Amino acid sequence: MSNIIVLKKKIKKFKKIINVPGDKSLSIRWVLFSSLANGISKAKNLLISEDVIAAIKAIRVLGVKVILNNELCKVYGNGLNGYKYKKNLTINAYNSGTLGRLILGLVINSPYPIKLVGDNSLSKRDFKRISDPLSKFGAKFILKKKKFLPLKIYGSSNLKPIKYFEKKGSAQCKSSVIFAGMRTNGKTIIKAKKSRNHTELLSKHLKLPIKVKEGKTIDRIEINKPKKITNFNYNIPSDISSSAFFIVLTALSNNSELIIKNVNVNKSRVGIITILKKMGVKIVFINKKKYKGELISDIKVISCESLKPINCPSILNSSAIDEFLLIFLVAAKANGISIFKDLSELNQKESPRLEWGKKILMEMGIKTVTTKNSIKIFGNPNLRVNKKIVIKKYLKDHRVFMTCIIAALSFGGNWFIHDKDSIKTSFPNFLKIINKLKK
Ligand code: S3P
Repeated sequence: MSNIIVLKKKIKKFKKIINVPGDKSLSIRWVLFSSLANGISKAKNLLISEDVIAAIKAIRVLGVKVILNNELCKVYGNGLNGYKYKKNLTINAYNSGTLGRLILGLVINSPYPIKLVGDNSLSKRDFKRISDPLSKFGAKFILKKKKFLPLKIYGSSNLKPIKYFEKKGSAQCKSSVIFAGMRTNGKTIIKAKKSRNHTELLSKHLKLPIKVKEGKTIDRIEINKPKKITNFNYNIPSDISSSAFFIVLTALSNNSELIIKNVNVNKSRVGIITILKKMGVKIVFINKKKYKGELISDIKVISCESLKPINCPSILNSSAIDEFLLIFLVAAKANGISIFKDLSELNQKESPRLEWGKKILMEMGIKTVTTKNSIKIFGNPNLRVNKKIVIKKYLKDHRVFMTCIIAALSFGGNWFIHDKDSIKTSFPNFLKIINKLKK
């Protein structure tokens, strides 16, 4: 089967109710936490995608039994000290930065070195941001070119708690250190620039010895070694980052309306909603409820006649970090110049996304001015694409692929979008939902 999608037409107006798959960040965290629990934990609506399967394979390598079918995932945790460390273990994180980075915190007490590998895209991403803080606990690392995968972690049974300042707004760095703190006697203290807080919320839900003091821009987290994690069941809510593709498609379409059911709208994840509302998109949350510390809601979006440009406050960057390529599409149709700054982290993703954002917009005929960490987008409310656009040679990056599908359906043109298989990492049924909206 061809790995290219060809699109030649804008989408017609639609009015639909859809469900999107489970949240990827929560799915991976549920797998990791339940691997340390005593007894069987069960998850419904776990995202079944390559990144989550990679997490399941990783805990299997560590001796944890997992049974997975379409409805239910069961993890047979062996307790906090239940990983079966052996000589010469290799963990493959494939495309998943979240798995690769979080698992290092969990295996920091391994008596044997463990090798961590990943795919071509992950092997180009920074792991020094993790090996630096974890080394302070007492682990040792050998990384390719001192920064990349493959790496070897030499764990220790004699870990010392650390004080750590996470300045990038990276939930992966913060979470890896929280996990390492859970392996260490004594109090680990983290000051962290705000980022998604699922690890903290799950730790609290599991009554682990964690304290979080929330500040406006920085949170202070204290973590001690737990005595036990009790097995726990979880009904994973839908992923706001996957929902975002359809939210933006609706915002950019004519006379359309969409409801997405049961989405995780945790405050640390909904930067895209705040940004789009500022740009004039009509979005409402309906049926809001709390679930195990997370906020869940249906999201209603109505398409928009006129879009305002935005000078995007950097304070929203972390809570919208996976959605910027989509936000750039909205800016492309806004009536004026939008500015996005302090975005160097965007080039640290599966592909260098700030560069790819610029390339895609340029192909669409939108003027941009970029620096290493910012982009100015000169919007055109009458934007129509009439030319052939070929998108290929990006690293395996699901979000580049899916953003281009949304661009093609919103602005027209003759698009050839390569690497359809990339969606398997986070959103295997993405194109099925697109087809549902087309009908
Ligand atoms: C994630 C954190 C973010 C995000 C990624 C998922 C997580 O990465 O981009 O898709 O689940 O912790 P950073 O922590 O590197 O910003």
